[in-house]
Amino acid sequence: MSDLILFHPVKSLDNKILLPAGTTLSADIINDLISEARSISYKKYSMLQHGTIRKDILSFISRPPYNLIFSDNAVIDDLLNFMDNVHLISPVIQSLDYFKENDSYTYRHILNVFSLCVHISKVMMSDHWVRLNEAASGTMHDIGKICVPMNILKKASPITHEERSILEHHAVAGYLLLSLYFQNPEDPVALVARDHHERREGSGYPRGIKLNNHIVDIITVCDVYDALISERPYRSAAYDNRTAIELVTEMGEKNQLNPDVIKTLVSINRKEKSHFSECEVSHEIRGNQPLYNSYGIFEDDDN
Ligand SMILES: [Fe+2]
Ligand SMILES: [Fe+2]
Repeated sequence: MSDLILFHPVKSLDNKILLPAGTTLSADIINDLISEARSISYKKYSMLQHGTIRKDILSFISRPPYNLIFSDNAVIDDLLNFMDNVHLISPVIQSLDYFKENDSYTYRHILNVFSLCVHISKVMMSDHWVRLNEAASGTMHDIGKICVPMNILKKASPITHEERSILEHHAVAGYLLLSLYFQNPEDPVALVARDHHERREGSGYPRGIKLNNHIVDIITVCDVYDALISERPYRSAAYDNRTAIELVTEMGEKNQLNPDVIKTLVSINRKEKSHFSECEVSHEIRGNQPLYNSYGIFEDDDN
């Protein structure tokens, strides 16, 4: 981590600059940041009891394609029972409230990634502690977006390269915010925030490293899948479920995403819900792309 440089400032929700742009993220700088907050102890809240979160989760998973994934009441019961164990510290709860009020896409995305990663990790393994970590990470992976101005988060037209850099800043910003809040730069939720845009073959950001981490693998598949099937301001429609799964599968074939997690995603999307190890994934491309999609197109490119 010592070679990362901050291209943009890291700010708290109340707009206090915690680290300015240009900071080199050495271990000493990160430890200094954390030591200033040593005396703070944050109150913890039951996530499911907070505000309208329980109601919102139930509403989001009742919409396609989540209604098929969560078609069995026993799966929903398990999800809610499990979520009862998830407690979040006040700055994280405040960030959820902030997104709910200002950016409904990010709010829904965070809760969808949370529900999906709880379910996928239940199907793939039974280790309670790891599941709990994955669940918590799902709610915090994009917390660094509090450092991205709303007009960039919600921009419908092509963005500039500078705006892309500010958007990508959310991974490192989230890592630093969570290192600070948990007073530990090695806390799994902080590492997930930093690494959830890395790809297994090294094509991601911020470090472009070849990452092989089980928790990140699950969050990343859920993150990409939910982003595809959701409506976004920069394209005319969401990807349909078939196309989204095809694109995720293609990313697995390129070794960008974990193939076992993709198989699990495919199997829970099917009626029979066979075990992921027995799931055959189709490699045929049949889906449709949205008519208009400015993702990957830059306003300041020449052509
Ligand atoms: Fe992200
Ligand atoms: Fe995300």
